[in-house]
Amino acid sequence: MKHLAVFASGEGSNFEAIATACERGEIDARVAVMICDKPGAGVIARAERHGIKSFVFSARDYASKADYEREIVALLDETKVDLVCLAGYMRIVGDVLLGAYGGRIINIHPSLLPAFRGAHAVEQAIEYGVKVFGITIHWVDATLDGGKIIAQRAFEYDGTDADEVHRIGQKIEHKLYVETIKKLL
Ligand code: GAR
Repeated sequence: MKHLAVFASGEGSNFEAIATACERGEIDARVAVMICDKPGAGVIARAERHGIKSFVFSARDYASKADYEREIVALLDETKVDLVCLAGYMRIVGDVLLGAYGGRIINIHPSLLPAFRGAHAVEQAIEYGVKVFGITIHWVDATLDGGKIIAQRAFEYDGTDADEVHRIGQKIEHKLYVETIKKLL
């Protein structure tokens, strides 16, 4: 059975969608480890509820990004991870992690890339007056939200309520992430 690692910084609704799909056998894999860079984030309790091993770290406890990424790589190797899924992991992947797992790391982003990269994609899109929003899943490279696109799904919305766009978008994210992981495996 294939092993997934999910990286998250926040609530972890995408983590939960992936973990649940694995438990139900919809994805023929298991989430072997959850990695979180925000002590106290909601995703940590979700991992506990699913009995999934987690590694929580604070970047400030390490002298450099390379140092904590080395620890993460050791954990991924030890857990024999096949695919790394970034799910709201709000940190740019560095050279150490890319060097070891490049080509096996994917990310989900709440815009139709290459438009609106970065942390506030939905808010930027609303500011711009966008009428067609969307979700992108892409390979992770050294650029911010810039790697080759794997899957996209669009939806129309004519308004300015960012919470509503997030709500609509997240429902799509949960399905699209599960479908995409299935295909890639
Ligand atoms: C998701 O909507 C994801 O697209 C976004 O963070 C959210 C995490 O939600 N990611 C980015 O903005 C990456 N640039 P979750 O913690 O409930 O899965």
